[in-house]
Amino acid sequence: MNGMAHTEQTSALITGANKGLGLEAARRLAGHGWKIFLGSRDEGRGREAADKLAADGADVVLVPLDVTSDESVAAAVRLVREHTDRLDVLINNAGAPGRAVPPADATVEEVHSVYDTNVYGPIRVTHAFLPLLEAAQNPRVVMVSSGGGSFAVVTDPNQPVSAMHELAYSSSKAALNMITVRYAQALPHIKFNVATPGEIANRKFAATDMNRHTGQLTVTEGTDSIVRLAMIDADGPSGIFVDRLGPAAW
Ligand SMILES: NC(=O)c1ccc[n+]([C@@H]2O[C@H](COP(=O)([O-])OP(=O)(O)OC[C@H]3O[C@@H](n4cnc5c(N)ncnc54)[C@H](OP(=O)(O)O)[C@@H]3O)[C@@H](O)[C@H]2O)c1
Repeated sequence: MNGMAHTEQTSALITGANKGLGLEAARRLAGHGWKIFLGSRDEGRGREAADKLAADGADVVLVPLDVTSDESVAAAVRLVREHTDRLDVLINNAGAPGRAVPPADATVEEVHSVYDTNVYGPIRVTHAFLPLLEAAQNPRVVMVSSGGGSFAVVTDPNQPVSAMHELAYSSSKAALNMITVRYAQALPHIKFNVATPGEIANRKFAATDMNRHTGQLTVTEGTDSIVRLAMIDADGPSGIFVDRLGPAAW
């Protein structure tokens, strides 16, 4: 391994990067010359995405990674370690929307499956990659949350989400927001920040499979907040929540 390139090239692992916002974040950060560890729970879909980025010149390594599986996450750590002894940026992007079951009908089983991806997933992955992050100069963790995880947004009658009655997704993202703040407070040497892909004030979100492409923003616009937080420098903030327009209310 080339010692110079090894110490100078920024590296990032992105979960759920085979499509949507994760893939777009991978494409954009690779465009800055970063080494991208492209996480995908399905190896075939991930390989296809990684090959496309590589064809455009990206330095990309496919990392099979199901955030709901301890074994898969452990194997991902081993694979990343074959390429580097430190990780600069972790983007916990993988997310599950759930089935938008109204609260009266929501069961623990349904909620649990959403939490497994959106809450336990980021904890599982963050915990496993902490040693690699701690070996970096300016480690950054970006949690991809949602306006739906904001108490301020969900309790605002002018926000459409206030009238969408569901439990699992919004509460999972609220938990993720708090988890991020708690990590940020406890681990000041690592930056932990929350990005939501949308524009809260304009009630806009990004068109992806998750919303059957009903979003009004492109994936490029949707990743602006994610990319910004991934690229903050050593004196940048920790424990903040932003959308693409700026600070977001918790
Ligand atoms: N689009 C928006 O405007 C918007 C708004 C608010 C929040 N978000 C958040 O943004 C993130 C990305 O969503 P998206 O809009 O880009 O949706 P998407 O295109 O549906 O992408 C979701 C990604 O997460 C992956 N994933 C799901 N469960 C996983 C698991 N157990 N392990 C690993 N990967 C898993 C999916 O993999 P498969 O392809 O295998 O299913 C896919 O790669 C999510 O956290 C979402 O909640 C998006």
